[in-house]
Amino acid sequence: MTIADDTSQTPEQVADPAPVATTPGGDEWWRSAVIYQIYPRSFADANGDGMGDLAGITARLTALAELGVDAIWLSPFYRSPQRDGGYDVSDYCDVDPIFGTLEDFGRLQERAHELGLRVIVDLVPNHTSSEHAWFEEALAAPEGSRERARYIFRDGRGENGDVPPNNWESVFGGRAWTRTARPDGSPGQWYLHLFDESQPDLDWSNPEVRAEFVRILRFWLDRGVDGFRVDVAHGLVKEEGLPDYAKPLTGGSMGGAGVPLTPEIEAEAAQEPPTPPYWGQEGVHEIYREWRRVLDEYEGDRMLVAEAWVDPLPKLAKWVRPDEMDQAFNFAYLETPWEGPALRRVIADSLSAFGAVGAPSTWVLSNHDVVRHASRLALTAENPQGAGIGPNSDGKPIPDLGIRRARAASLLMLALPGSAYVYQGEDLGLPEVIDLPDEARQDPTWYRTGGERYGRDGCRVPIPWEASAPAYGFSPTGRTWLPQPEEWAELARDAQQGVPGSTLELYRRALELRREHGLGRGAIEWLPGYSEQVVALVVGEVTVVANTGETPVELPAGEVLLSSEPLSEAALPADTTVWLRVSG
Ligand code: NOJ
Repeated sequence: MTIADDTSQTPEQVADPAPVATTPGGDEWWRSAVIYQIYPRSFADANGDGMGDLAGITARLTALAELGVDAIWLSPFYRSPQRDGGYDVSDYCDVDPIFGTLEDFGRLQERAHELGLRVIVDLVPNHTSSEHAWFEEALAAPEGSRERARYIFRDGRGENGDVPPNNWESVFGGRAWTRTARPDGSPGQWYLHLFDESQPDLDWSNPEVRAEFVRILRFWLDRGVDGFRVDVAHGLVKEEGLPDYAKPLTGGSMGGAGVPLTPEIEAEAAQEPPTPPYWGQEGVHEIYREWRRVLDEYEGDRMLVAEAWVDPLPKLAKWVRPDEMDQAFNFAYLETPWEGPALRRVIADSLSAFGAVGAPSTWVLSNHDVVRHASRLALTAENPQGAGIGPNSDGKPIPDLGIRRARAASLLMLALPGSAYVYQGEDLGLPEVIDLPDEARQDPTWYRTGGERYGRDGCRVPIPWEASAPAYGFSPTGRTWLPQPEEWAELARDAQQGVPGSTLELYRRALELRREHGLGRGAIEWLPGYSEQVVALVVGEVTVVANTGETPVELPAGEVLLSSEPLSEAALPADTTVWLRVSG
């Protein structure tokens, strides 16, 4: 049976959003790259202290080259008190001793380049650590000083200044302002921190801040990095006057605004303008234009990718206009449930929104801030993004369904034109770790909400390499900064290597075929004739069919290139994706 003949599906076929969508041209490597995210604390620990490090990464890079990715993105490894896993930077131009030295970074990059892997580093421009020299100087300096003008200090409201300057809330919970003390111990001004109080926001209207970040960009560009992932790329500029804001109903940063709202706040929020005074302000774009010019001075296609939780997609596309960044993470895709109509819609919208500004779409399912997709896709209750899941959460995931859907979702993602991001361990099918002991948790979200929101530790557990080694090969001493579950022995890389049907082999083969068939640079064409729970498309000569529904779907005759589950008699089971070369 061919697809066109297939009349066995439900009569109410869904009008597909767009007949054909293409990824724009250009031959820069990042347009179609598969980029592997390394979270250094949890990838590989060479010195045995239980915390991952740069030497550990270097020693394990061949595994990523064998997997077939094009680049690595390293979450922050800079000097940092580690109050937010390194996203609290106290020195942007040095490596934290827990991760190694600048020389270790040089060796890592050299090895990566020898293996044909590009290296993207993380840049954290919205805030510094409160232990950054600038902030320490600011606290020691008088109100109104040049030192304070690098951050956002304000007098409090109320008679004694003890009411915060506005009502903004921290993404991690609690208020976004902390009051300082004067040298004599009396209460002083407040400073803004959209995240933890250890992460004071910089004032990007200050030219000194701008100049400093150009210096930091050059520091790493001169060392040969291939690009930057820009943290909170939608948050640097705040609205003039820092007006009060009732929380928006959706959007935010890492879903931080998705906490339950009272009916009063909901009503108030409905009246608010769509742009919060701290996200997505127009002024951010000029900053990236300047950075673009800096990157363009360097040889090679150095790139910028935005972490910008902005919707809808056409608005996000502003970050990747030709004179700004190159890519933006597609969180709309990440947040899409495993449902045919929603997936078709987001794929079409992504290709069209990014394509309209000449940028490739990106695709991502997991990272260090979200519940791993092997669990998220089988949650049995709402889980606000950023809240995480833990022992007392409602609606825990169904494990077997989760891994099955994750494999199918990954196989669909890796067929799509554009650039895909793979988070360490998803290639092993790792689930979220739910039962971490309270005392092991480190995410500031957990502390700032008094344990009400678990936060992100569950996706950051050190990954397993060798089934029978201490700490599954993560660390030679067996120490790990977060405990690893016992069930992870069978998910270890060496237990999956070369094993037909393993998740690791599924990813490896998918990346091989993606390269062989040029899928990352293709155009997609929707295939008509399927029921609404089926995503069916053609990229080049590869037909991709993903069944998000509950009943098997008949497949066209052809050669099965890869399937996320075993197939029986040309039928595609529920929660399965297949890549085919259709005959005839
Ligand atoms: C986004 C990062 O991915 C997250 O881990 C971090 O906590 C916040 N930005 C603040 O830097």
